[in-house]
Amino acid sequence: MKICIILGTRPEIIKMSPIIRECERKGLDYFILHTGQHYSYNMDKVFFEQLELPEAKYNLDVGSGSHGEQTGKILMGIEKVLQKEKPSIVLIEGDTNTVLAGALAATKLHIKVGHVEAGLRSYDRDMPEEINRILADHCSDYLFAPTEKSKEILLHEGVKKEKIFVTGNTVVDAVYQNLKISEEKVNPLNEMGLEKKQYFLTTAHRQENVDDKKRFEGILNGLQLVANEFNMPVIYPIHPRARKMMNKFGLNTNSLQFMEPVDYLSFLQLEANAKLVLTDSGGVQEETCVLKVPCVTLRDNTERPETLEAGSNMLAGTNPDTILNVTKEMIGRNNNWENPFGDGKAGERIVEILNEYFNQR
Ligand code: UD1
Ligand code: UDP
Repeated sequence: MKICIILGTRPEIIKMSPIIRECERKGLDYFILHTGQHYSYNMDKVFFEQLELPEAKYNLDVGSGSHGEQTGKILMGIEKVLQKEKPSIVLIEGDTNTVLAGALAATKLHIKVGHVEAGLRSYDRDMPEEINRILADHCSDYLFAPTEKSKEILLHEGVKKEKIFVTGNTVVDAVYQNLKISEEKVNPLNEMGLEKKQYFLTTAHRQENVDDKKRFEGILNGLQLVANEFNMPVIYPIHPRARKMMNKFGLNTNSLQFMEPVDYLSFLQLEANAKLVLTDSGGVQEETCVLKVPCVTLRDNTERPETLEAGSNMLAGTNPDTILNVTKEMIGRNNNWENPFGDGKAGERIVEILNEYFNQR
């Protein structure tokens, strides 16, 4: 069995890391194909360094562009590598343009596709991620669903049950593998002069939020209301897309503490010790649930409804008053919820399933 692990963005590097480690541990024949969708040091290399991941064998260096341009370039680049390497299976993770192109390139060459984090749905087809995840799921031969709920979604869409494996989400593996290391290695609270549970943490980068002036402005005003109401700093490591759009729209607010995106170990510490996290990130909704930190999601829907049911997360959209009110409500909640995303062994399970299947042939 030869595995090709495709990744291209920050969350894919983090969520593939447990699978890469497992391949290393088992001495499997695998290689990493990086599309270069993310390329800034603090969106890419820093995670390879910190998570001690081997360098990618290939980097397509596609960079940024419109959806069609970026997806097309990735598709062309991946096809060439797959034709040369002829892997038995391609693994993709999540819902980015890298994932869609990876799934299409492999399936058209009749190479098996394994989709990690399959079966998530926001039911909002205006989101580029929703289209990517639906298409990737329906190209895949192995669908690694994080929860029973995601399995049910796939079954309802007609995916054969033999193809679906409930494994948990590798985000839990990554948190469990790195939280202690982060406590030992980094101390962002000290560096930033923050006290435990005396600050809010925020991230927002989604196209439907930051590319829309009214929605982005609503989020920034809502965060300002939260900072004023609780008289606590709001820390915002700002994604390059959000930074670019903030400048373009001429938005500004002086009560938030903006900074460059931070490394994973520091971000874990910032999350674990925050009073509450406000975000539109998928991974951050999951991590806060695992870390038992309340979360307010700055979106109208989520493809992670397990967090709403567990009680770790509430949707607030982008209206400033709603953001403040939902924040107050979440702060009043007990954080004794159960993590629905698994036991931190998703990576092991996924590799084991592949091993079993391919060793039978
Ligand atoms: C992508 C994913 C999104 C995911 C996010 C994770 C798609 C359609 N979207 O969004 O689902 O949540 O990654 O962070 O695949 N930029 C840099 N440096 C980088 C990368 C991007 O400066 O390393 C800037 C560029 O101005 C670029 C913009 O960010 O135009 C957007 O990058 P892009 O990869 O198109 O999408 P993301 O918003 O990062
Ligand atoms: N993250 C990070 N530094 C930051 C912000 C986020 O390391 O400054 C990590 C976070 O811990 C999570 C992942 O990036 O694992 C989430 O990525 P992102 O929000 O970019 O994408 P999404 O999950 O929304 O697709």
